[in-house]
Amino acid sequence: MKDSQARTIYLKDYQAPDYLVDRTDLTFDLDPHATLVTSRLKVRRNPAVARAEETLPPLWLDGSDLELLSVSVDGELLPAQRYQEKPGGLALSVDRAAFELEVQTRIAPEANTSLEGLYLSNGMYCTQCEAEGFRKITFYPDRPDVMSIFTTTIVAPATYPVLLSNGNRIDSTTTEDGRLRVTWEDPFAKPSYLFALVAGDLQHVEDHFTTCSGRTVKLQLFTEARNIGKCAHAMASLKHAMRWDEEVYGREYDLDIFMIVAVDHFNMGAMENKGLNIFNSACVLASPETATDAAFQRIEAIVAHEYFHNWSGNRVTCRDWFQLSLKEGFTVFRDAEFSADMNSRAVKRIEDVILLRTSQFAEDAGPMSHPVRPDSYMEISNFYTLTVYEKGAEVVRMIHTLLGEEAFRRGSDLYFERHDGCAVTCEDFVVAMEDANSADLKQFRRWYSQAGTPVLEVTDAYSEANGEYSLTIRQHTPATPGQNDKLPLHIPVKIGLLDESGSPLPLDTSGREEMVLHLTEAEQTFTFNGIASRPLPSLLRGFSAPVKLRYGYSSAQLQFLMRHDSDPFNRWDACQRLALDSLCKLQQQYRAGAALESPGTLIEGFAAVLDDVTLDPALVAKMLSLPSAQELAEQEGDIDAAAIIAVRVFARDAIAKALEARFLARYRALDRRKPYTPAAEDIAERSLKNTCLTYLCAAGNADSLTLAKTQFERGENMTDTAAALAALVEFGPEEQSENFLEAFYQQWQQDTQVVETWFGLQSGSAKFGTLERVQKLMSHPAFDVKNPNKVRAVVAGFAMRNFTQFHREDGSGYNFLADQVIALDKLNPQIAARLVTPLTRWRKYRAEESGQIRAALQRISDSGKLSSDLYEVVSKSLG
Ligand code: ARG
Ligand code: ZN
Repeated sequence: MKDSQARTIYLKDYQAPDYLVDRTDLTFDLDPHATLVTSRLKVRRNPAVARAEETLPPLWLDGSDLELLSVSVDGELLPAQRYQEKPGGLALSVDRAAFELEVQTRIAPEANTSLEGLYLSNGMYCTQCEAEGFRKITFYPDRPDVMSIFTTTIVAPATYPVLLSNGNRIDSTTTEDGRLRVTWEDPFAKPSYLFALVAGDLQHVEDHFTTCSGRTVKLQLFTEARNIGKCAHAMASLKHAMRWDEEVYGREYDLDIFMIVAVDHFNMGAMENKGLNIFNSACVLASPETATDAAFQRIEAIVAHEYFHNWSGNRVTCRDWFQLSLKEGFTVFRDAEFSADMNSRAVKRIEDVILLRTSQFAEDAGPMSHPVRPDSYMEISNFYTLTVYEKGAEVVRMIHTLLGEEAFRRGSDLYFERHDGCAVTCEDFVVAMEDANSADLKQFRRWYSQAGTPVLEVTDAYSEANGEYSLTIRQHTPATPGQNDKLPLHIPVKIGLLDESGSPLPLDTSGREEMVLHLTEAEQTFTFNGIASRPLPSLLRGFSAPVKLRYGYSSAQLQFLMRHDSDPFNRWDACQRLALDSLCKLQQQYRAGAALESPGTLIEGFAAVLDDVTLDPALVAKMLSLPSAQELAEQEGDIDAAAIIAVRVFARDAIAKALEARFLARYRALDRRKPYTPAAEDIAERSLKNTCLTYLCAAGNADSLTLAKTQFERGENMTDTAAALAALVEFGPEEQSENFLEAFYQQWQQDTQVVETWFGLQSGSAKFGTLERVQKLMSHPAFDVKNPNKVRAVVAGFAMRNFTQFHREDGSGYNFLADQVIALDKLNPQIAARLVTPLTRWRKYRAEESGQIRAALQRISDSGKLSSDLYEVVSKSLG
């Protein structure tokens, strides 16, 4: 728990550091209860802020949960009156402009359940320092604009044969008492958040990569012995990412060694520490038998993401944490493009847009709404958000769209060259993009400072006499907490026009069939000439801006776009709109107490999609997936959870029954039983096959359940096995479901990752994931409340992915979540603050639910002293 509970930090208060640290030499004498940390720093007054003949200001060192043993300056023990321990750190009075400071502290990794700083995971030491974890290791100016050359010496008993840190290993010896002593040096200056240390009894796989300039880089992936067979996919992904960054961005790796370590206890996905990336094992380890296609693709993306940070994050880093999106938004954009190049571009885009629409838009509309570059925070860990990451990536994507591929590359080249070795701001990024291209992004900058999701309303007009077609677009952004008045944004709207045969129309005299409209005003009209008949517009192609688009498409027009749009993303989007329209209509019927009518147009549309064998099967699978309950909830105020659940089930079952023969035909055709590969085409086929299987089982025919049972028992790969099991659990007779679940557990209980899948299958099940079952899972021997992956699988699986059970009318789901959040806050504040998210949306629900959710939130608030993480989220949500 931190002492800084209610303190708000503002971007406008930023001040450059008083002192710089040229060198940082750390020595760790590892012990679970009493690790001794000796830090020797070469400190000097920051010339950028020094004035002539000044009295030197005190040196502030951040520190939290540390036991201070001694402080010396230039080799002399500092008397106690020269320093003062305060909440959050140490203030030292300074009498010279440059000096060597030595600080000794003692820490207890064993007792560290926050998974920030130095901690133990399955007996192995590891670190997580971003954003402010280094201050839990030693007293230090723990801010990203203080960059230093680090050397790290680790001393540990021989039972920890692998001792790792950043950079190159420069020394390794055995001490007189038989312990190991290893020293690492990182030649690149870095902020403390990129520091890492690992110590354990680990195995590794090794490979190498030859860079574009011909250097050989050693690649090592470390893991516990039992997982050594699960490293191949991550290693292959790493090599692809290294090559891609050379080819697409001209970025070469800079050290002679690149290491990845897998750890089981980790708050996030992974961390880009210089030369020593540390990964949540779920985001790096995979084998066909144990990991699903989704996991394979996630691993490829995250390995690339962390690798790309070596340039966008490490070589060029952030000045302060308000600039987090500088590295995260840019790096997410980079990894998304990488994944698009490695797999199906359209499908990757669809997945990212679904995440934005369901979760980022909800964040924008909720109490924690903030701009891509926040103005203030209480706890920076709470700002590792979908807004900073995903919307931040959309902002970079829009720059790419506005400038074009080549100009964007000129901008990124200039950015890396100009700021190499520096800690900079989002503004510096935009300026580099402008300077390299003499572009004007003045108005565009508002995307960084203005929160909320813009709404675009589009109308059109056609004059047959003049052959003139015009699109009028109005934009407005709803108010968000602390920001009532919004200014018009510079929005790239990519469009095309279709004639009545579905062919693209030339948009101007150059004959181009697609263009980017620059919407800069609150209302603007764009005119096209020489249009022979009324066209159908295809708007916001590829989701060219993170906005809500409204245009009054009829069902027939949507079906037409589904068939003819040359933009595959928009074909999918037309299908989604058709589904959304149908589900909204059903909701009206439900709320009016009327009988629900079969969604005929949607069924027709789906039938056409299923019949089109020329479409990428992965795209078909996406088109046939109904919008999630979360996404439906996002559509409206006054959310009626029961209505959403009822109409989704109704529509799904109606589609399943009406198209059963088609689903079966495609299932059969795709059930090819090839040996597993994670290649995009194979993943595509499995995704459509399993979509068909789910609909078949929903249709309720006993033969379909037999198909699922056969697929489950064949157990050829985890994608097919888990999909079959999910269908059996959801649609099969209850007793049998129990047996299948039990059989699955018996087979896989040794594999912690598969057990997480098994937990998630149950907690997220509309039918099986009852509160009672979730509570039972929490006392299962494989559950570990100190392991975030387990908590996410069971508790978040229920609260965030099980709309049906979580929103049960008696409010028991909300109360359960409140209990878990209160308990977890004592162990791991970051996880507690994330888990509370569903409760923060109380204002969006109708009165009954709203009152229940708010009461649960209030109970958390009243439960005692909260961590700063949880306090910030809860107080802002109640306020
Ligand atoms: N920089 C890491 C990543 O790419 C995330 C670190 C998150 N740390 C935290 N305390 N929230 O993407
Ligand atoms: Zn990142």
